[in-house]
Amino acid sequence: MKDFDFETPIDRRGTGCSKWSRYGDDVLPMWVADMDFAVAPPILHAIRARLDHPVLGYGVARDALRDAVVAMLAREYGWDVAPEAVCFLPGVEPGFNMALRALLAPGDGVVVQTPAYKPMLAAPGHWGLRRVDAPLAVRGDDVLCDLDALRAALAKSRALLFCNPHNPLGKVFTRAELGSIAAAALDSGAVIVSDEIHCELLFDGRRHIPIASLSSEVAARTVTLMSASKTYNIAGLKTACAIIPDAAMRDRFLASKAGMVDSVNVLGLEATLAALEHGAAWKAELLRYLQGNRDWLVEAVRGRLPGVTVHRPEGTFLAWLDGSAIGIGEPQPWFLDRAKVALSPGAEFGAPLGARLNFGCPRSVLEAGVARLQAALAAR
Ligand SMILES: Cc1ncc(COP(=O)(O)O)c(C=O)c1O
Repeated sequence: MKDFDFETPIDRRGTGCSKWSRYGDDVLPMWVADMDFAVAPPILHAIRARLDHPVLGYGVARDALRDAVVAMLAREYGWDVAPEAVCFLPGVEPGFNMALRALLAPGDGVVVQTPAYKPMLAAPGHWGLRRVDAPLAVRGDDVLCDLDALRAALAKSRALLFCNPHNPLGKVFTRAELGSIAAAALDSGAVIVSDEIHCELLFDGRRHIPIASLSSEVAARTVTLMSASKTYNIAGLKTACAIIPDAAMRDRFLASKAGMVDSVNVLGLEATLAALEHGAAWKAELLRYLQGNRDWLVEAVRGRLPGVTVHRPEGTFLAWLDGSAIGIGEPQPWFLDRAKVALSPGAEFGAPLGARLNFGCPRSVLEAGVARLQAALAAR
């Protein structure tokens, strides 16, 4: 039985939402990484309950929230952390920028596995750091990390800015892969800044493994960034946390807030607690729905969009379309113009002939989007 409605489209126009505001009414937005689903009822309830108190001053995480995060890390990942290792932040992007600012010196290298989420590509440049790209390769449905290339990149660097599950490739790293990557980082003396914002959005029964949970040695060299924002579709509430077991590293990280990063959204804190305590049933149904969308999309792309290559994402609600064989140049502007579908441009991820499609929407919307892409290709 289905308890939650992921099928009925919700009109988001006019709500000040980024996704549906950027383009005209004739365009179907399938770009920025939020979903078109209603937030889980217990989360909405918690936000409304907080609003029954009429004062909305600066927030701080209550002990109940900190304890819920610690309990979740132990329960879901077998990772024991002290409550003080959890630092609340107004977002994961500020978190990885704070980490780079805190732990590296101008001129240091930062390895990024490409293609990569645009703010991760940009972050080293904000702090006078050198970005060193380590490309991931797509082979069939697999995304492969070339360890020799990673080691070579790490040899020129002081940090690995890691993303797992990976945006935009939807790759979920296995324990063996994580072990090799962590060993490569530690051998080179690099710290790991691990963006795990998509950590609960995994398909086919996969389980997330925080890279820092591999061993106390890895944990001592890692800043892990997590949030309920992607899984529970509360990205607009700007609430996240960094988990930093090493006290000295944590002090430096927190000092790097200076002048930039302030306290966390009070409604986001309540929403995160509600997600952790009461979100499991909604999340389970969401994952079933998203997995169905993923499978439908992969078959549809392979059967109906000639020249477009797609691999089956293992997590996230994002599909990477490789358009290098279509012969239309950069796919995003072409499809925006001809199909009136707004994908995320591959150029933003450092791969101009790709495009990212967000399938976190009702199936009917996904079907409409693919039908538009198909018609545009057929009319060439
Ligand atoms: C990998 C990754 N990291 C960070 C973010 C942004 O997180 P936040 O809004 O918490 O800064 C996103 C959003 O799409 C993302 O995909």
